[in-house]
This record gives sequence, C-alpha cells and structure tokens, in this order.
Amino acid sequence: MEGPRESNARYRERSYWESRYRQEGAAPAEWFGGLEAFRAPLQAELEPEARVLVLGCGNSALSYDLFRLGYTDITSIDYSAACITSMQERYAHCPGLHWAIMDARALTFLDGSFDVVLEKGTLDSMMVGETDPWHVSREARVLLDQVLTEVSRVLRPEGKFISITFAQPHFRKRHYAQPVYGWSVRHVTYGSGFHYFLYVMRKGEELSPSDLALGRSLYLRPSSPTPVRYLQDSDSENYLCTIEL
Ligand SMILES: C[S@@+](CC[C@H](N)C(=O)[O-])C[C@H]1O[C@@H](n2cnc3c(N)ncnc32)[C@H](O)[C@@H]1O
Repeated sequence: MEGPRESNARYRERSYWESRYRQEGAAPAEWFGGLEAFRAPLQAELEPEARVLVLGCGNSALSYDLFRLGYTDITSIDYSAACITSMQERYAHCPGLHWAIMDARALTFLDGSFDVVLEKGTLDSMMVGETDPWHVSREARVLLDQVLTEVSRVLRPEGKFISITFAQPHFRKRHYAQPVYGWSVRHVTYGSGFHYFLYVMRKGEELSPSDLALGRSLYLRPSSPTPVRYLQDSDSENYLCTIEL
C-alpha cells in the first residue's frame, strides 16, 4: 500500500499537476488560505502600480483577487498547460491578468522585469519528498536554488520576493538567507490555530548576521557522533600524558 511519503512525492511531479488540473479545471482552490487570510501583511508590501509575477499559480484565485483590489499588472505562471489554459479562459475578461505556461526554474522574462514575485505553496510542493527538515537533500537544495536564482534575476533592484508557506522560519529561512540572491529576509505569521508564514525578501538589502549564519547552516554536513574514549577502560593508558595544556 502507498504510504503518506509516497503519496506526497507525487506533488513534485509535473504529470501529477497536469492530470489534476485536467480534472479540476479552474474552479478556485487555495493552498494555505485565500487572500483574506493574509491581505493586510501582503498589501503592506505592494505598491499600487507593482508589476507582479505569481509563480505556480495553480487554480488559486489570488491573482484575480489582487486584480480586483486594483493591482492591474499581474503575470501568473504554472508549468501545467491544463492549468494555464483554464485560468486564461476563466479570467479572459481581466485585461491586466497575463498567463504563461512556464517552469519556475527557467523563467523567460528579462532581468529586473518585476517589482514583486509572489509564490504560495509552490516551493512547498518541491520539498514534499523531504523526510528530515534539519537535513535537506542535495536534490531539494538544488531545486530551490534554481527557482530562487531565477526570482532574484527577474526582480528589479529593491524589488521583493514574497513567499507564503507553512514552512517554519528555522527550516525555510536557511534557503532564502543566501548572500548570492542579494536580498534581506524577514517574516510575519498569520492564521489562528495552524500558523502560516509570509516571508519577504527585499533586494539590495543586507542579510542580518543571524540570518547569514542560518543560511550557512544549510550547507553544513550533519555532524556524526564523535566516538568516546573511556580512558579508565584501558589499564595501559597513561591518561596524564595525553592532556595538552
Ligand atoms: C501546492 S500548488 C499551489 C497552487 C497555488 N499557488 C495556491 O496557492 O493554491 C503548487 C503549484 O505549483 C506548480 N508548480 C510546481 N512546480 C512548478 C515549477 N517548477 N514551475 C511552475 N509551476 C510549478 C504546480 O503545477 C501547482 O499548480
């Protein structure tokens, strides 16, 4: 029988999303809640004229809800063709909403073309195969790095990357807090009972020393236990000679 680990692994497969959206169409479905749940902290980060890119939009109504709030330059991508076709049809009446079938690891936009890049649950779907959040696999690290490198590239100077996720700061911040992306990291929490996090990465700002240290920890090898020598177990051990003062 398929266990939760195997069934979660499907979220990393493009073919899974493709067949899911073929069945579901564009009927709105939201991971980690709809806009109302985090509207205040999100709007605090958005300038009225912001050019926004939404990564892995799925059939979430987030792009449309932002459009209705007055943000009229929103590009949404997903690597599922079925998803993008349905969304294009559903929101054909909204001229400021643009849709593209695209892989978040290889964006085709020019450098610096967005003020804000937004993702909700997309990076989480790339991490589902991980079994130990303290020791992230090389595969997952590389996958996230490919996306984050692209996000940093398409953001203008002082632009913001906003990531909405259930991943807690000590696990997720390590991925974001890499100097190579050229941004700072902060977060707010939302939700009652179960908590979600809204991370804001701002380009052109320095990482704090504690975030830098957290970022470095992503690349540290898990420490293996040091073998213990019990000196008293050996009659021939002259333990005084081994002490280095
Ligand atoms: C968990 S769903 C989140 C959907 C939506 N953002 C929401 O908040 O409800 C993850 C979405 O990311 C898309 N996705 C996963 N990996 C992707 C990639 N490399 N490039 C583009 N889209 C991707 C999937 O097709 C799926 O629509």
